[in-house]
Amino acid sequence: MKKVLVVLAFGIALASCNNSQTSDNQSAVSDSTAVDTVVVPQKDSLSVYLPDIKASLPEAQTVEVKDDPVFFKTKSYKAIPLQTVLDQFLPAYKSLDIKQTQIVFECEDGYNPSMSLEKVLSKKSYLAISDVEAPKGQEWINPKKGDHEMKIAPFYVVYTDVPAKDVTYKWPYNLVKISLSAASKELAVLFPKEDDTQVKGFELFKVNCLTCHSLNKVGGKMGPELNYPKSVTEYWQIDQIKQFVKAPTSFRNECKMPAVTHLSDKELDEIVNYLKYMAKHKV
Ligand code: HEC
Repeated sequence: MKKVLVVLAFGIALASCNNSQTSDNQSAVSDSTAVDTVVVPQKDSLSVYLPDIKASLPEAQTVEVKDDPVFFKTKSYKAIPLQTVLDQFLPAYKSLDIKQTQIVFECEDGYNPSMSLEKVLSKKSYLAISDVEAPKGQEWINPKKGDHEMKIAPFYVVYTDVPAKDVTYKWPYNLVKISLSAASKELAVLFPKEDDTQVKGFELFKVNCLTCHSLNKVGGKMGPELNYPKSVTEYWQIDQIKQFVKAPTSFRNECKMPAVTHLSDKELDEIVNYLKYMAKHKV
């Protein structure tokens, strides 16, 4: 009984925001340095919910990944070329301009990184379905990060020809869904049209925060929505927001947000000012 589900997503009611259970933030791999446009799947996006196609996937091959950025060592996986997965389960992508298309990875924990489809397909990218070294009867080994066990299942995207230090590539694990979406237009709603002094803050928020936080319901779901119905700038003291971002665990024990240490005070001010602007532009 092969069930192949390729849906035109209807506004994507994500059934995946499951922070409490799998709280790892994947930050070691990519978020603070994310450089690609963040895209959130919309009505017209094409998507495939991976657990539904698991049984119909073609036979996996063994691939070796040198210096895996999640495990920090050489790893072997059973994997299927991402191109093959798209060919079979999202064939409509062939009619899209891959230069103008973003591939969005939706992880169970709410992390939604995205990349240019062209960029992903230009490398040897794979959908890994199991860890060759996993003990008998198990598909994955879950690495530890501090005391916390990361959940790699059900899928993990790896590359055999991308160095771990190239942070422009995303290595999403705990992956459940792949969507394709036209670049940038989703973000138009978050662009500060009425005040161009806020553009810098918008850009900084987009690159550093939007993979985990939504504004007006557009963005990642790992962290809380920051604008709707109440903006974080309306219920936090403004200077505390900056402090929190720099050192979340100094506010909340075992806080799931990674400290953002690479932004200057000025840049954080730009972000906070942009959030204040957005407070006046709710949906
Ligand atoms: C890797 C994901 C991730 C990134 C990137 C991230 N956050 Fe967070 N953030 C979270 C999570 C998860 C929480 C909830 C933390 C908790 O309470 O355990 C949070 C909480 C917050 C809160 C507190 C909200 C509230 O009302 O409790 C603020 C403010 C915040 N983040 C701002 C930011 C800003 C600004 C950036 C970008 C500079 C950012 N975050 C980047 C994951 C992230």
